[in-house]
Amino acid sequence: MGKKLYIETVGCQMNVLDSEMVVASLRHHGYELTGAPRWADAILFNTCSVRQHAEDKVYSALGTLKQLKRQRPDCVIGVLGCMAQKDQRKIFERAPYVDLVVGPGQLHQIPKLIERARRERTRQVAVSLDRTSGSADAIRRSHETFDPLRDPSMRPTPFQAYLRIQIGCDKFCTYCVVPNTRGPEQGRAPGEIVAEARVLADQGCREVTLLGQTVNSYRYVEGEKTTRLSDLLESVAQVDGIERIKFVTNYPLDMTDDLLDAVRELPKCSPYLHVPLQSGSDAVLRRMKRGYTVAQYDEMMQRIGERLPQAAVASDFIVGFCGETEEDFEQTMEAVRRYRFKNSFIFKYSERPGTKAAARIPDDVPYEVKQRRNRELLALQNAISEEDNQRFIGEKVEVLVEGPSKAARQKGASGPQMQLTGRTLCDRIVVFDGNERQIGHFLPVVIYEANAHTLFGEVVTGEYCHDGGAVPLSLP
Ligand code: 5AD
Ligand code: SF4
Repeated sequence: MGKKLYIETVGCQMNVLDSEMVVASLRHHGYELTGAPRWADAILFNTCSVRQHAEDKVYSALGTLKQLKRQRPDCVIGVLGCMAQKDQRKIFERAPYVDLVVGPGQLHQIPKLIERARRERTRQVAVSLDRTSGSADAIRRSHETFDPLRDPSMRPTPFQAYLRIQIGCDKFCTYCVVPNTRGPEQGRAPGEIVAEARVLADQGCREVTLLGQTVNSYRYVEGEKTTRLSDLLESVAQVDGIERIKFVTNYPLDMTDDLLDAVRELPKCSPYLHVPLQSGSDAVLRRMKRGYTVAQYDEMMQRIGERLPQAAVASDFIVGFCGETEEDFEQTMEAVRRYRFKNSFIFKYSERPGTKAAARIPDDVPYEVKQRRNRELLALQNAISEEDNQRFIGEKVEVLVEGPSKAARQKGASGPQMQLTGRTLCDRIVVFDGNERQIGHFLPVVIYEANAHTLFGEVVTGEYCHDGGAVPLSLP
C-alpha cells in the first residue's frame, strides 16, 4: 500500500510553489496525499517567518501532534521552509517529537531525509549556510532550490501555476527575515524558465505567475548577454498555450521603463503591478532601509500612469514600525488617498529576531496603536477599492474561470450549474452564475455590481473569448 503524506502550507506564494515541488518529489517515492494527519506516514509543515503570528500557528499545530507521535512513533513529522532555516535546532526544544528540520534550499532532500529519520530514528536537519558563514559562492549554492518537478494537483487550480524565476533577496530591509531565510538573490537561467513554462503549458496551464521576492530586479548574465524581466516576459509570452502572465512582487526602484513597455506591448502580460510602498513617510522608509523616498515612488507612479494607464497597482504596508508617529502614519494615509491602489496588504509590524531592526531599533509602538492604524488604513483602502470598482458596472471584462465560488463550495456542489469565480487580467475577482464546463476557460462577463473585493457579473452568452473556449450557458 502507498505511503500517505499530509502537508500544510502557510505563507507566501513561494511556499505554495515549494509545497508543490515537495509533493511532486514524494509522489515519485510512492506517497499519496491524505487530508488527515492521523492516517499519514509523513506530516510536513511548510512554514513562514515573516511575522510572529505565522510561527505561532505552526507551533500550535505541532502541539496537537504530540499525542499522535506517541501512539505512532513511525510517523515522521517535519518542519520545512523559512522557520526551519531561521530556528534550526531550536525547533526541537519547543517540539521534541519533530523528526525533520529542512530549509527552503534543501527541500529536494526530503524523500531521503524522511527515509533516514524512519530507519535510523534520528533527527534530520538540513539547512543552508548563514549569510556570514562561508564564501559568497558557497552560501549561494547552499540556497539553490529545485524546480523542474511539478505536480498539477497541488496548484491553486490546474490551469494556473507559479513559476520561480528568482530566489532570495539582497535588499535587506531592516524589518525583514527573508534575506536570511532565503539567502542571496539569484536569477534562474532564462532557458530553464522557458522550458518549465512549456512543461506547464503541456500540463494544461494557461496562466503563469512569475515569482521572485523582488521579481523586477531579475537579471541573468550569460557571457555578453544580460536577460532582464522584460526579456523574459517576451520569451514566456511566446510559449503556446500560456495565455496570461503575471509577476510578483516588485521593488519600486527597479520598475524600469523597459519593463513597463514590455507589459504594454505584450497582450498576454497582466498590467497588475504589485509594488509595495510600505510607508508614506520618508523618515520611516529610511529606518526601514527601503532605499527610496516617497518622491521616488511618486516618480515611478507617474511613469506607470504615462506608459500603462490601464495598470492596476497594489501595495503592501507595515503599520507601527519602530518610531512611527501619528504624523508618519497620516503620511501613509495620504499616500493611499493619492495613489488609490487597487488593493493593499496591510501588516502590523512584528519584530523578527535576526533582523537589523530587532538588533538596533526599539519596537516602541504599542500593540493597540498598531491595531488602530491597521484598522484605519484598511478602512480607507477598502473605501477606495469599492469606489474604484464601481466604474466596472456595465463594462465587459474577460475572466479566466477558476472554479466554484466560495459560497458554492460552502454549499456543496449539486449538478453542473453553480456560482463560479475567476479573475480579470488585472487580478480582479469576478463572481457569476455559470456551468462547471466553463471552468478553465476565458469568458466575457458583464459586471452589474461591485464591492471592495469582488465584481459580480453575468456571462455574455454566445460570445467567445480569444481562446475560443467560452462555453455558452445553453449547452447541456
Ligand atoms: N512585520 C510585519 N510585516 C512584515 N512584512 C515583512 N516583514 C514584516 C515584519 N517584520 C510585510 C511587508 C512585505 C510583506 C510580504 O510582509 O509588507 O511586503
Ligand atoms: Fe524583505 Fe525587503 Fe527583500 Fe521584500 S525587498 S523580501 S521586504 S528584504
